Amino acid sequence: MDIVVSGIRSTGRLHLGNYFGAVRQFLGMQRTHRCYFFIADYHSLTTHPDPAALKASSRQVLIEYLACGIDPSIATIYRQSDIPEIPELYMLLNMHAYVGELERVVSFKEKVRKQPDNVNAGLLTYPVLMTADIIIHRARWVPVGKDQEQHLEMARNFVQRFNRFYETDFFPEPYPFRQSDGQMIKVPGLDGSGKMGKSEGEAQAIFLSDEPSVIRKKVMRAVTDSGPTTVNTPLAATITHLFQLLELVSAPDVVKHFLDAYAQCNIRYGDLKKQLAEDIIAFLSPIQEQIKALEADDARLKRVLHDGAEKSRQSAGHTLQIVRELMGFNS
Ligand code: TYM
Repeated sequence: MDIVVSGIRSTGRLHLGNYFGAVRQFLGMQRTHRCYFFIADYHSLTTHPDPAALKASSRQVLIEYLACGIDPSIATIYRQSDIPEIPELYMLLNMHAYVGELERVVSFKEKVRKQPDNVNAGLLTYPVLMTADIIIHRARWVPVGKDQEQHLEMARNFVQRFNRFYETDFFPEPYPFRQSDGQMIKVPGLDGSGKMGKSEGEAQAIFLSDEPSVIRKKVMRAVTDSGPTTVNTPLAATITHLFQLLELVSAPDVVKHFLDAYAQCNIRYGDLKKQLAEDIIAFLSPIQEQIKALEADDARLKRVLHDGAEKSRQSAGHTLQIVRELMGFNS
């Protein structure tokens, strides 16, 4: 059975980008693959090294994983920092990662621009830690959004290099999980300028735990253009973000209704936004109910992490033992 690994950094609440980019694919695979889903708390240190916030965020991410339907009786859910085998593998892999290639990674260059006063070594070796996360369970599939594509390319490079150097085929090459059209998912932000994301600004992201009134306010303030002026023109780039969001949460006939109205030049963006807000609220309502119930259930959260760490360490320990032997330790 193919193995699947994915994770989300513990930097607070999950947004629709996290949900559709990672969690939803994972939900589809947990019954058919051996799945590991983790809270990437070490990863959050590169940008958010605040102990109290880290603790609260990790708890929140766990609650939201469970609320979305990730089922700990079939998938393994754990915290990255509960698995000491991951940092050990990361350290070993670092000996085969070159500074030059790490400096060329787009996300590293972006972070250097965004946080020039904190260009820490963890930022540079971020793709190595991510590779360790994935190959510690010898995963073949990694459900992630489009923004992680280059990190997975790096992971495949590191795997190929390791296998070649130690003359083994121990690690499979990990690939992102793609949709049926071969594309990776990129959920746009409400301002239409790029992807939905926490560091892109809270106002353009819808969080899974946003109250209905907050969702309505954010959606009604979403950026639009001045509308089509010629019948049957293709959707303008300045409005595709709202249609993409509509496609994620609304029924197909609703999407068709607004596409037809756009084609006929009689679309009212105010109506589209109202519909989008209500459909997001309806979509999130069962998840929010679960979030509320889980927030009060410390015993369950503890149990999930305890059992997840145990299962994950079994698999991680096995991998590390073989890696150490291959590399000349444990002789
Ligand atoms: P992070 O925490 O930034 O995001 C978690 C997941 O959400 C996806 N995502 C999106 N997908 C589509 N559209 C968006 N607007 C959007 N925003 C976020 C991300 O692609 C990601 O899948 N490095 C990772 C965490 C990580 C990881 C791993 C993932 C660490 N180790 C090993 C997989 C395997 C990250 O920063 O994700």
